[in-house]
Amino acid sequence: MAKYKIAWLPGDGIGKDVMEAAKIVLDAMELDANYIPGDVGWEFWKKEGNALPDRTLKLLRETDCCLFGAITSKPKYEAERELNPNLRNKGYVYASPILRIRQEFNLHTNFRPCKAYEGNPLNYRDDIDLAIFRENTEGLYSGIEFFPLPQELRDSLLKNNPKMERFKNTPLDEIALSCRFITKKASRSIVYQGFEYAKKHNKKSVTLVEKPNVLRETSGLIVKEARQIAKDYPEIELWEANIDAMGMWLVKNPEKYSVLVATNLFGDIISDLAAQLVGGLGFTASSNIGDNYALFEPTHGSAPKYAGLYKANPTAMLSAVALMLDYLKEDKLAYKLKNAIARVIKEGKVRTYDLGGTASTLDIAREVTRKL
Ligand code: NAI
Ligand code: MG
Repeated sequence: MAKYKIAWLPGDGIGKDVMEAAKIVLDAMELDANYIPGDVGWEFWKKEGNALPDRTLKLLRETDCCLFGAITSKPKYEAERELNPNLRNKGYVYASPILRIRQEFNLHTNFRPCKAYEGNPLNYRDDIDLAIFRENTEGLYSGIEFFPLPQELRDSLLKNNPKMERFKNTPLDEIALSCRFITKKASRSIVYQGFEYAKKHNKKSVTLVEKPNVLRETSGLIVKEARQIAKDYPEIELWEANIDAMGMWLVKNPEKYSVLVATNLFGDIISDLAAQLVGGLGFTASSNIGDNYALFEPTHGSAPKYAGLYKANPTAMLSAVALMLDYLKEDKLAYKLKNAIARVIKEGKVRTYDLGGTASTLDIAREVTRKL
């Protein structure tokens, strides 16, 4: 029996291309693992009315961790239009598989390192080294949304908050509502992990990216928890920045920041910004870590216009493999892989389109295996 059972979820679009690249590299490293493929993504929404079928959830429960490519998610009306006609009007509602996995397996911590590779011509600056800790299960991505707004809910809001008066007479089918849930437990956990990472890697600051001047209760809650936790780390400064200003600061002085902590939506936004500072979405990966399970994925989505063309840069996906090896405590392999990726980028001989080259997704994977 192999040492590890790994759920293998390529998903949609370039997710499939980059996972093929991952397989080339994993095979070359001879990781002692079984990779068990699972169904996930848009085609299963269209065919079955479920982008994350129960059989896939079962597979995840039976494995040590998951490698995930990318999935396509479309807005409500497009999802309804593309659903198999036999399934329409039967109560099927699209839910993003990756959000569901994060929530159902309580993968509370989304860790996204964004460090500039030496010799990457796309670096915004060469001295950028950011580590993003994004709360992964709640906030505005809790999935608790309403349209039309239920009368009962409006009545209750009217009773509990005078600001609701403004919406008293708006027709219920002209209001949509998304809830931003922030718990103390998840807030403490994500801030704590940011500080622990900073301590372990000798970082001098942790920046909490929120908006407590406007989102007084939800952002206010995590700020308060963060200030409390920061007291246990006198050698590390807690910086507080508003999400909008942070967009500006990350472009102005990205090298001044190191560990960034944010709730779900804000963490999502600064992740793509930070990715672009180190070359783009083709370079950055995330681990989604819970107490009993973990999933590793590139930060990018399914990039439909490049699907099946083997043009996508697999560096993000291969970095996700490296994060998985870290999690499995395969330290030697993780080190070898990170080193090999860095050497391919530094040499710059084999480059995908985003770097101005003509190499394919799989050419990069093969070049990385040569450097292992
Ligand atoms: P995207 O990340 O798929 O692509 C945006 C653009 O970034 C691409 O058009 C391409 O120019 C570039 N890019 C992305 N990955 C690249 C790579 N590996 N190499 C080179 N260039 C790359 O984001 P977009 O266009 O907003 O979303 C497309 C679909 O992906 C949507 O259906 C969206 O819902 C989904 N998505 C899924 C995610 C996931 O599975 N975790 C995350 C983000 C988006
Ligand atoms: Mg994103």
